[in-house]
Amino acid sequence: TKVNIADGYDELSWIAAESVIQTVQHKPEAVVCIAAGDTPAGMIDYLVQSQENGSVDFTSCQFIGLDEWEGLGESDAGSCQHFLRHHLFQPLGIKQDNIHVFDAKAEDLDMECRKMNDHLSSIGGLDVAVLGIGVNGHVGFNEPGTSLDGEAHVISLDEKTQEVGRKYFHSSMNPPQKGVTLGMKQLLDASKVIVIANGIKKRSAVRDMLYGEVSPAHPASILRYHSSLSVIIDREAYDMTN
Ligand code: F6R
Repeated sequence: TKVNIADGYDELSWIAAESVIQTVQHKPEAVVCIAAGDTPAGMIDYLVQSQENGSVDFTSCQFIGLDEWEGLGESDAGSCQHFLRHHLFQPLGIKQDNIHVFDAKAEDLDMECRKMNDHLSSIGGLDVAVLGIGVNGHVGFNEPGTSLDGEAHVISLDEKTQEVGRKYFHSSMNPPQKGVTLGMKQLLDASKVIVIANGIKKRSAVRDMLYGEVSPAHPASILRYHSSLSVIIDREAYDMTN
């Protein structure tokens, strides 16, 4: 595991962006998966800027959705799709054909997961996955207790995830209690995995990920089985002294 400790959020965002850009420069039709949420926002801005200044072109990439809240879609503020659409896909001009995300409004979510599994294996898996980490150690919506060899699945979200998830939604709305997510196996199968985290609130999750027992209790720790895991964090998230 390569651990990169950045001076702050901006540096973290740039280091992560550079790594994604390298993958795409090398393989323009790369299969890319990027988490939604607060952490990747800065990196995503750098990806967009880099395409605008001509140093990389994402328009031949395939984008795969990492996870989604049950019942929410593109038009719902706070959904993963809404975030990615507005910050990433639209600014980059990605064609609909190159975007494969979960339809979490679908009646049969298990079927949605099977479709995702089939699609992902048909295109040969992920070239690069950029993941955030939850304060409870989740990656995607792989909550504590997740299976190591799982593919896409429906999951009952941890109470902590629902509580923290309030930040994405209007105050009048309760976050959904379920979600869909790619599984740990699909993340471990990615050619390159990048985990980004910043701030004191992520400190204990980062510590468990890097130095705790590799265990389903700390889903991010399972990524240590990956041969090319890169963890990019700021100093606040790294302080291991307390
Ligand atoms: C979102 C996702 C989640 C987040 C994690 C951290 O697509 O997969 O695992 O990455 O909850 O969220 P932020 O970055 O908002 O702290």
